Amino acid sequence: MIHVESLHKEFDGGTLRVLDGIDFSVADGESMAIIGPSGCGKTTLLYILAGLTAYGTGTVTVNGTPLQGPSRDTAFILQDFGLLPWKTIWQNVCLGMKLHGVSRPEQNTVATELLETLGLMQHRNYYPARLSGGEKQRVAIARALALNPDILLMDEPFSSLDTFTREKLQDTLLEIRHSHRLTMILVTHSIEEAVFLGDKIMVMSRRPARIRAIVNNPGSGTRAFRQEDAFFAACRSIREMVEET
Ligand SMILES: Nc1ncnc2c1ncn2[C@@H]1O[C@H](COP(=O)(O)OP(=O)(O)OP(=O)(O)O)[C@@H](O)[C@H]1O
Ligand SMILES: [Mg+2]
Repeated sequence: MIHVESLHKEFDGGTLRVLDGIDFSVADGESMAIIGPSGCGKTTLLYILAGLTAYGTGTVTVNGTPLQGPSRDTAFILQDFGLLPWKTIWQNVCLGMKLHGVSRPEQNTVATELLETLGLMQHRNYYPARLSGGEKQRVAIARALALNPDILLMDEPFSSLDTFTREKLQDTLLEIRHSHRLTMILVTHSIEEAVFLGDKIMVMSRRPARIRAIVNNPGSGTRAFRQEDAFFAACRSIREMVEET
């Protein structure tokens, strides 16, 4: 589904090398977690995959087609949620659908279903400022899913949340991923989150970022995994890799 080969990216007229030969593939319905030091280029990589930032050299193909700008099949949840403060929860969720000319009745059906699934229906007329961090994050997820994307890109989606809310949302994400058959790429600083949510985990080096390893993580995908020995073993092995970075 997503195929990246020899990807390079530089800023500031070539003086700041950020991505230095990145190669990976993510299959249809698969999830990959990305972990790496601050400033190495993870957000830059997601912006490139979302079609929002041009890349230097290399190839990026999505479904066999070279990437050419943003697509409604790819949803992107930004590091800071990206909600519009002057629009209500309902309007935020409908925004993408409105921009893409989805009819009003269909917007209503989709938004109602998503807000109910994510437990936000009673908040629909509030503005984002009134919501807790976890609620804001759920609105961002609802808005991203409203266009029924094939690919979901997430940049540290749960980093500002407490452990309880965070694990609940991770579980919700797991269910949504399976029910919507999403291909997912998630950037996180949490080793536990990477191991819980990633079918594979990409460990990046310091800037200019190279891939240190892509680790298969076959146990992920169920809620129970969090309590299993295989989960703790995978966390330990990723931690060792990260500490060497
Ligand atoms: N538009 C830009 N112009 C110039 N430099 C940029 C631009 N965007 C990012 N950078 C630089 O590229 C490097 C990588 O940034 P990026 O945001 O991708 O890091 P990151 O891995 O997501 O870090 P963090 O984990 O802290 O979010 C940083 O040094 C940053 O300052
Ligand atoms: Mg970042």
